[in-house]
Amino acid sequence: MRLDKYLCDGLGVTRKQATKVIRSGEVTVDSEVQKSGAFKVPENSVVEWDGRKVGVPGPRYIMLYKPADFVCSHEDGFNQTAFVLLDEPKVENLHFAGRLDVDTTGLVLITDDGQWSHRITSPKHKCEKTYRVWLADAIEPDYVEKFAQGIELRNERDATLPAQLEIVNEAENEVLLTIVEGKYHQVKRMFAALGNKVDYLHRERIGSIVLDEALEPGDYRYLTEEEVETIWK
Ligand code: URA
Repeated sequence: MRLDKYLCDGLGVTRKQATKVIRSGEVTVDSEVQKSGAFKVPENSVVEWDGRKVGVPGPRYIMLYKPADFVCSHEDGFNQTAFVLLDEPKVENLHFAGRLDVDTTGLVLITDDGQWSHRITSPKHKCEKTYRVWLADAIEPDYVEKFAQGIELRNERDATLPAQLEIVNEAENEVLLTIVEGKYHQVKRMFAALGNKVDYLHRERIGSIVLDEALEPGDYRYLTEEEVETIWK
């Protein structure tokens, strides 16, 4: 990484400010003064500014319990973005590893590691996502089979990939649905294709990562190393 970028990330300063401190001779790399922002910082080097060590934060992996009425994007003209729930530096470097609709609650993963999030969102990797769904109308006896076979959605060429439906509470029209894709409004459209309607949608699981029961809506925590690793398996 270039020295000026290293300082921007590590100190949370602008490129102009980083260039200024570098030129002033206050920055050392492995104890040697470096006056060029373009200097390539070798891996595992110790970068110091005015005698204090500058650390570039490693990749970040966060689980957020998204409440309703927040959107999974950096900007929205109407609703608040879920990023306002994070008390983190450099939020602009983070992105959602798969979005939820504004009215959907539950697990969202947030990271600055594009390769990691690609493993979650790319249909090629078939990463499972489990949703708890409450339906407006009764669960028909053939639903489990229909989801397993694949459902034809409006404006889509291919049927959905086989999905697993588990009936949790028939009287309350409550099911658990596991899908391996992430088409636009997929869960709502799957039930709409069967003539039903989703009243309430909540994501509980992505791959092996389960929404932490200790989190309240709006809370977040960093993933453990083990949780991060499961996505590569
Ligand atoms: N499917 C939907 O329809 N909405 C979501 O928020 C997630 C999956």
